[in-house]
Amino acid sequence: MILPVTSEVGQNGHLVIGGNDVLKLREKYDTPLYILDIATIRNQCRSYRENFNFSDLDVGIIYAAKAFICTAMCELIAREGLGLDVSTGGELFIALASGFPAGRIYFHGNNKSVEEIQYGLKSKVGYFMVDNFSELETLGKLCQKNNIRQKIMLRINPGIKANTHEYMQTGKIGSKFGFSLHNNVALEEVKKAGQYKNLELTGIHAHIGSQIFNLSCYDKLIEVMLKFIKEVRDKLGVSITRINIGGGLGVKYIPEEKPPKIEDLARIVYDAVRKYQKKFDVSLDKLYLEPGRSIIGNAGVTLYKVGVVKKINGVKNYILIDGGMSDNIRPMLYQAKYDAYLANRMEDCKNTEDGMKKHYSIVGKHCESGDVIIDDIKLPPVSSGDFIVVAATGAFCYALSSNYNGQPKSAVVAVEDGKSWVWIKRQTYKDLVMGDVRLYEE
Ligand code: LLP
Repeated sequence: MILPVTSEVGQNGHLVIGGNDVLKLREKYDTPLYILDIATIRNQCRSYRENFNFSDLDVGIIYAAKAFICTAMCELIAREGLGLDVSTGGELFIALASGFPAGRIYFHGNNKSVEEIQYGLKSKVGYFMVDNFSELETLGKLCQKNNIRQKIMLRINPGIKANTHEYMQTGKIGSKFGFSLHNNVALEEVKKAGQYKNLELTGIHAHIGSQIFNLSCYDKLIEVMLKFIKEVRDKLGVSITRINIGGGLGVKYIPEEKPPKIEDLARIVYDAVRKYQKKFDVSLDKLYLEPGRSIIGNAGVTLYKVGVVKKINGVKNYILIDGGMSDNIRPMLYQAKYDAYLANRMEDCKNTEDGMKKHYSIVGKHCESGDVIIDDIKLPPVSSGDFIVVAATGAFCYALSSNYNGQPKSAVVAVEDGKSWVWIKRQTYKDLVMGDVRLYEE
């Protein structure tokens, strides 16, 4: 089963996470409910730190907030000693509201507005991850005008097609992200950055994609980045000694998947750095990674109550749950696959013989035929009133959630050592009209 590390089955057959019977959590917090296991998040942060602890290469780990952000998550990341990648003024606001140290914030975004740039400067973020010429120019001028010194990294597009869903490829030729290495665009950018004396070019960045299983693209990426560093040195006499290779490590969503481990990524990255430092005669003093999904993905589950079980004889058995595409749009957007269990009958899920199980389609309550969480799953016979737990929903589910069909956003609850508490409150119907105004002004 693909569940957070603290998961077990209680004597009553209920799923227990972080010492909490999830059916008790349902009584307290209702469903749909996102449950996050703090121990799993901490384990992942530590695993990154430990596996990337090399005596001869300094590595910085930065959590990519887009996977899941709220103030409590930022606090946890700060305590774990990681940096934070934010990609909009809004994410920056959440991070600062949590008290996250601004110096450890890396401000991404491929179309930062002037206001966002000013906000980042005023907040004294550690680094601007500069995506394009116009951002460089605005940032450079603002720093000059206000006499601010600002560290930057330039995002390059390495022209690498990662082996993942098309929507999650971000480093292939033609991608909207970063400065292309083709036609010397990126080289020009480095030259231009040098004209702004208040900008301190500390390194280059690239992110090639997400949910990556075949790690050979990281070897290629490091080759491309170090080759570019050599070119910059040889042609411009500029020394760049830091690279940020983005995130991307895949996680397990369904039993058939065998994602690589953090230690596999560490080995590939370390070997590639050694190999290409030698080949291109360049040296790095620091490397950064920006994992998102692999920190939080497997720490989360979503609990739903089964409403109707609808049989269309000989065609389909539907399990209708009290949430759906509003709390998890990933199956619709990326054809993402998930695994699920009966939270109130975990033993049945394990012990029922395959022949006794039935094929079900787990679908949501929204007015769309594509509102499917799992198209085909085998479960013991399911009835109305059972509880479905969908695994591995920690990343990009709450983050991509919506109020479609007037569905209030579900609560996010954290669990640890037998305790549970709310990280994000469930929205109420009132929240749905908070920002609305009347037809005409009075
Ligand atoms: N750094 C940058 C600049 C990124 O754009 C991303 C993800 C990451 C780091 C973190 O990548 P990760 O380690 O999480 O793979 N909504 C999609 C995923 C989009 C990822 C966007 N960028 C999904 O639900 O699968």
